[in-house]
Amino acid sequence: MKGYSKMKIKNVPYFKTSLKIDNNIKKSAETGWLTTGPMVKQFESEISDYTGAKYVVAVNSCTAGLHLALAAQDIKRGDYVVVPNLTFVATSEVVEYFGANVVLCDIDPKTLCIDVNQVESIAKKLKNKLKFVMPVHFGGYAADMKSLLKLSKRYGFIIIEDCAHALETVSNVGKVGNSDHCSVFSFYANKNLTTGGEGGAVTTNNKNLAEKIRKLSLHGMSKSAWSRFSDKGKWYYEVDSLGYKYNLTDIAAGFGLQQIKNIDRLNEKRQNIAEKYNKVFDKIPGVSRFHFDKKYKNARHLYIVHIDKNFWSISRDKFIDKLNELGVGTSVHYIPLHKMPYYKNKYKLKDSDFPKSCSYFDGCISLPMYPSLTNGDIFYIEKVFLRIYNEFKND
Ligand SMILES: Cc1ncc(COP(=O)(O)O)c(C=O)c1O
Repeated sequence: MKGYSKMKIKNVPYFKTSLKIDNNIKKSAETGWLTTGPMVKQFESEISDYTGAKYVVAVNSCTAGLHLALAAQDIKRGDYVVVPNLTFVATSEVVEYFGANVVLCDIDPKTLCIDVNQVESIAKKLKNKLKFVMPVHFGGYAADMKSLLKLSKRYGFIIIEDCAHALETVSNVGKVGNSDHCSVFSFYANKNLTTGGEGGAVTTNNKNLAEKIRKLSLHGMSKSAWSRFSDKGKWYYEVDSLGYKYNLTDIAAGFGLQQIKNIDRLNEKRQNIAEKYNKVFDKIPGVSRFHFDKKYKNARHLYIVHIDKNFWSISRDKFIDKLNELGVGTSVHYIPLHKMPYYKNKYKLKDSDFPKSCSYFDGCISLPMYPSLTNGDIFYIEKVFLRIYNEFKND
């Protein structure tokens, strides 16, 4: 710890899980089902109650759910699909699986989500070649769904919401997940709810769509293993479409049931942490925080600050190194997709096409955000920022 000898270094990791082993996990092992069975059914029903969605199909990842949502709605080779430039690569890769074209869209700096004005310009240009728009509720704050729903009616595209960060989110049209189109959630290890490391769910109020997705999630079979082998089931099944192996296991659902019970309590902790961070970063020069509209609920999956590069004698990357040297875990969400060689080369993309995501990316740092983060941790993080301020502010 050269140069930091006077400061007692504390370790505040970027992520800590709130997962606990409880009776559900034991029960799911003891039933002998292990794979998709009664626990998955119960978990789907809890997610349905929580989101208000009529139908829920549990799957083994959000990526799988996004893939199925496109497959079930007949995406074709050569179709165009709008994806925000600021997202994890899962949102765009599923489009590529079908040989369709990804059209990356810049962000609205107020929401960090897809820029709806740019979506409209793209829709006008592509006309009926534009098949899907996939907004991402980045960090837990919702995209402008009211405008997107209007645009989808006007231009005829289908919306698939990437809700990987947004289980608790409420948008300007209501609870995320409760809609006639597909919303897809992630229950990956570090998400606000995890099904033991990997998992996801597709929600919708459209019965036919939900049935199609359920079938495609298990090889396109007319019956699941559970209904074939349970007392009431029969051995016969049919396959009438090309399916996938994307079902969630009962063991995973057991973890999900433990987590969903506590979702409101855990989210309240995230909200309190965000408020405390806000107070800290309102006071530290050269670092800004994001001011999200408080009318809507932000799931607070991520807490991101932005470094003003003219204020500091060190770059954002060096700033991250300093935080890490002083024991504060960090991450970056995300390197914009247009910078990834696969997309950059395939679609001939340049930084100047995405000015807003670039200026966001140049200064963004994600800080620890999880329910067990303590006041002491936040106080320590504040001290570390002040320490960096004293050493590296521009004179
Ligand atoms: C915005 C976004 N979409 C999709 C995914 C993919 O989720 P999963 O790992 O459950 O497939 C992630 C995962 O981190 C994500 O952050």
